[in-house]
Amino acid sequence: MADFPLAGHNVDWLHREDIRPYIFVREHNRDKAMVQPKSLGWFPQAPLIFSPMQMDEVHFANQILALENLAFSHSDMAMPRWVFYDCGVMPGFVAGFAQRTKTLAPGVKSILKPSETMEWTPISLFIIIPTMAPREWVAHNLCSINSLLPRENRFYGLGFLSKAFGLWQADIDICCGITQWKSPAIRLHSHYGRFEVLTAFTPVHDYSHTITYRLKVDFNQWMKFFSKEDDIEFLNEHEYAGFEVDPNDESSLIAFQRKIEEKGETYYLNSTELRHNPLDHPLKVYKSLNK
Ligand SMILES: CC(C)(COP(=O)(O)OP(=O)(O)OC[C@H]1O[C@@H](n2cnc3c(N)ncnc32)[C@H](O)[C@@H]1OP(=O)(O)O)[C@@H](O)C(=O)NCCC(=O)NCCS
Repeated sequence: MADFPLAGHNVDWLHREDIRPYIFVREHNRDKAMVQPKSLGWFPQAPLIFSPMQMDEVHFANQILALENLAFSHSDMAMPRWVFYDCGVMPGFVAGFAQRTKTLAPGVKSILKPSETMEWTPISLFIIIPTMAPREWVAHNLCSINSLLPRENRFYGLGFLSKAFGLWQADIDICCGITQWKSPAIRLHSHYGRFEVLTAFTPVHDYSHTITYRLKVDFNQWMKFFSKEDDIEFLNEHEYAGFEVDPNDESSLIAFQRKIEEKGETYYLNSTELRHNPLDHPLKVYKSLNK
């Protein structure tokens, strides 16, 4: 534990023998999903591997879906089972953490209702799928049991580390993603690399107040999620673009979207501001100084 880079950040659960990272991946995708580049030292336990194409492992899939449906039911975006299969595990894979069913806290068991015959129960999930561009992927879904638990029973960092684990496992270079303005998840998503905004207003989505982002994965930035230190390098490499975006105001989202559509400029949000500001607070928009 002495050399553990995350020591002191309330994530000792990563060392528990009854909690392991997992990959739910079909065999044909395994080489691409399990690259495991240089050791980060963040994930002390070896991953469990499950296959979506083995009948007996359907129980694990059922539990992934049960967790997902519970976590997203309030936003009316629960994932249909066929989307999970056709659009998630066929092209991509699922990463996350699982706990031994017999050591799950009673509160967790009553929420997830796992079958006692399952050795492991997923407590988080991150679904990632490749795009047509080389080494570019789309983060399709992220959730953790934390959103269903009282604060004192949570595994701090579970959501963040589930996505980190998946990005690291597959050595993902560029990660795009989709989330809603004012979602707590934006605080996590913005910490994996410089957070470029591809769309600020997205009428093609069910929720037009959706942000589409793209980032080059940069391990060096991940620690700031835990340390909460200001990202001085970001401020050295970017300048204020001269306008803010107000997540509460549709006209502000549309105005930002128009700026993006003008082309010629790439716009970023500052992860430090996203981490520290209230979720509905206006945010400064930045552009890169390195062109
Ligand atoms: C969003 C989600 C994945 C975050 O995972 P998590 O395990 O709860 O979060 P982590 O423990 O990794 O990170 C905690 C940090 O996230 C942020 N956060 C998490 N939940 C939050 C909330 N309800 N309100 C504000 N910030 C929140 C905070 O910054 C927090 O750190 P802090 O307490 O030190 O300030 C999880 O809440 C979830 O599953 N939500 C429902 C599904 C969903 O909306 N997924 C995102 C789709 S894009």
